[in-house]
Amino acid sequence: MSGAILSIESSCDDSSVAVTDIETKRVLFHKKISQESDHALYGGVVPELASRLHAVALPSILERCREFFGSLKAVAVTSEPGLSVTLMEGVAMAQALAISMNLPLIGVNHLVGHVYSLFIESESVFPLTVLLVSGGHTMIMEVYDYNEVKVLASTLDDSFGESFDKVAKMMGLGYPGGPLIEELAKKGDPYRFSFPVPLKNSKKIAFSYSGLKNAVRIAIEKSEGSKELAPHIAASFQRAAIEHLVDKSVKILDLKKPERFAIVGGASANMQLRDAFLRECDTRGIELLFAPLEYCSDNAVMIGRAAIDGYKKALFTPATKLKANPKSTIFGDA
Ligand code: KG4
Ligand code: ZN
Repeated sequence: MSGAILSIESSCDDSSVAVTDIETKRVLFHKKISQESDHALYGGVVPELASRLHAVALPSILERCREFFGSLKAVAVTSEPGLSVTLMEGVAMAQALAISMNLPLIGVNHLVGHVYSLFIESESVFPLTVLLVSGGHTMIMEVYDYNEVKVLASTLDDSFGESFDKVAKMMGLGYPGGPLIEELAKKGDPYRFSFPVPLKNSKKIAFSYSGLKNAVRIAIEKSEGSKELAPHIAASFQRAAIEHLVDKSVKILDLKKPERFAIVGGASANMQLRDAFLRECDTRGIELLFAPLEYCSDNAVMIGRAAIDGYKKALFTPATKLKANPKSTIFGDA
């Protein structure tokens, strides 16, 4: 074995650690402890609770991968963007490991990590046009190389995944909302409610979900908890939300005419979204890439895979200098 990277992810509500072989890119170890059920009680992520849960979960996962410590060549950690109190848990652990084992430390941007979820156990392929749909972000970017990114469009308000979470909360479904809305929508008519597709008549290439969310809120209030209407509300909301994503994305595809297009992030697990984009890319002769379902949501494997490219470029940060940054430094203020 050529040596491995230990990677840590704690930017939101998933505690995850992975060990990846640098040369073969094989995943040697991966464990993720999701806090979803803890936050479900509150209908969303409570940062202080998330931070306390990371402080318990991360060391317990680390205990299970001690056998790989002898082969480590570097330590990597998500250092931006995310919730500062949760990022700090991972960063502090990575710093302690790097200092005690005298290993270089790689701070990985979480959004770049999502891009690398496409390249688990394989070579990275750039340039690539990527749509990132998660709980924190909705953006289209041109990725030229590791940490070389240009944002082409982003959301003006809520993100795609966040709008699913908020609608699910309004409907009393639970958290995270994405999978719950997708499931409920299977039994509904997507055209029963004519929710407005955001920015439909605007030339602006950007995303916006707050207006749609408010229209759905009014429908939920009017439905007065009707069990019969709930699946139709979910299906109609999902249809409008995806139509908006497709609408703006194809404008960029028609302008840039890329060979390949990729969709990453937790919400890229949505099957209706996948089908809609498959149809659009098919008619345009564009190859469409997705990450394996298990790596769409937050995980340390994608952070480790990104870190391999960072390692090869020797993009190390002195352990005492690495900071947890709630904002992205390489994406402007995205
Ligand atoms: O990438 P991720 O795990 O965390 C962030 O970096 O934000 O994405 C989580 C988000 C949540 O908002 C969740 O509701 C959404 O992705 N999501 C979905 C689906 N599965 C997860 N949204 C729509 N449909 C889904 N099937
Ligand atoms: Zn994420």
